[in-house]
Amino acid sequence: MLYRQLGKTGLEVSVLGYGCWAAGKQWDNASDDASIRAIQTAIDHGINFFDVAPVYGYGHAEKVLGKAIEGRRDKIFIATKCGLNWDAQGRTYRNLTRENILREIDESLRRLGVDYVDLYQVHWPDPNVPLEETFTTLDELKKSGKVRHIGVTNFNISLIEQAKQYTEIVSNQVLYNMIDRNSDDYHGLDLNYRSDSEILSYCEREQLGFIPYSPLCQGLLTDHFDRAALSDKDVRVFNRQLQGEALERNLKIRAELQEVAGDYGRPLAQLALRWLIQKPGVTSIIAGSLNEKHVQENLAAFEWTISDSDLERIDKILTQFD
Ligand SMILES: NC(=O)c1ccc[n+]([C@@H]2O[C@H](COP(=O)([O-])OP(=O)(O)OC[C@H]3O[C@@H](n4cnc5c(N)ncnc54)[C@H](OP(=O)(O)O)[C@@H]3O)[C@@H](O)[C@H]2O)c1
Repeated sequence: MLYRQLGKTGLEVSVLGYGCWAAGKQWDNASDDASIRAIQTAIDHGINFFDVAPVYGYGHAEKVLGKAIEGRRDKIFIATKCGLNWDAQGRTYRNLTRENILREIDESLRRLGVDYVDLYQVHWPDPNVPLEETFTTLDELKKSGKVRHIGVTNFNISLIEQAKQYTEIVSNQVLYNMIDRNSDDYHGLDLNYRSDSEILSYCEREQLGFIPYSPLCQGLLTDHFDRAALSDKDVRVFNRQLQGEALERNLKIRAELQEVAGDYGRPLAQLALRWLIQKPGVTSIIAGSLNEKHVQENLAAFEWTISDSDLERIDKILTQFD
């Protein structure tokens, strides 16, 4: 496993991290046993950075992660989030008030069964609450020891610069994969940032951790992807890249990428992860996994390298429809 420093924190996080959304069981084929075994296999192989959020399965993913890491807390870094709440119907809404953050951190710690988290991330900006209220509250949590570092996700540069007045921000987690390099939408939510053209170089310059989410484009960048097989209950049906014309275009790109992966005798998921591993500025790639087999296959992305000429070939494939 390769490790890189998360921003200026001194935390050496694994370049392949682990995303726990699917452990919340809002994805087809997810089960608690398989998720727990997958997380434990990941730890056995040196993966030490686990990303989760209260909203993943409405508390469930945090509980599953907490169970999986029992007795091994000191071996891993936990990154959870705040500011996305849900109602009785499962509709989500943003809430970054002081009162809500103070409630959420205690609930996360209880579900995870830990007394601190390593990285506490603001999940999405909340235009209804002043940044000062949110980030001074987070700064207090840092001083209290409940959180070690503060990060953001889905923030543009201007918002980060404003938030920095109130506390130290160490990372930004954004949508980034071969297909979503500069996307403006995620599951119907506006992304007011461009990952490749703005955030990546900004994070490098400012020494912030850059954490790409949905690195496999939620399964599209794998050999077994089958859109028709996703049930209506699977959250991925809301991903615009997996619908209509975008899906048709993406399947063409995918077929060409599979040829590149085939030249190395590697599955497509590994090409997608390897491309991110070799991208300067990337800190930890929080790939989602439903089982141990995914984890093992993804780890094998460290066994080989994409040549410079193939990186150019990939670039042409990816930009042909821009
Ligand atoms: N900050 C945010 O707003 C935000 C938003 C989204 C996600 N995230 C974080 O990012 C993490 C990862 O993103 P994601 O879960 O959306 O999607 P992802 O990592 O792009 O895709 C994960 C899915 O790909 C498939 N897969 C994984 N490894 C595979 C392998 N080796 N071979 C074949 N298929 C494989 C699995 O689904 P199938 O087997 O069903 O295909 C798996 O659930 C999340 O878990 C979450 O922690 C954050």
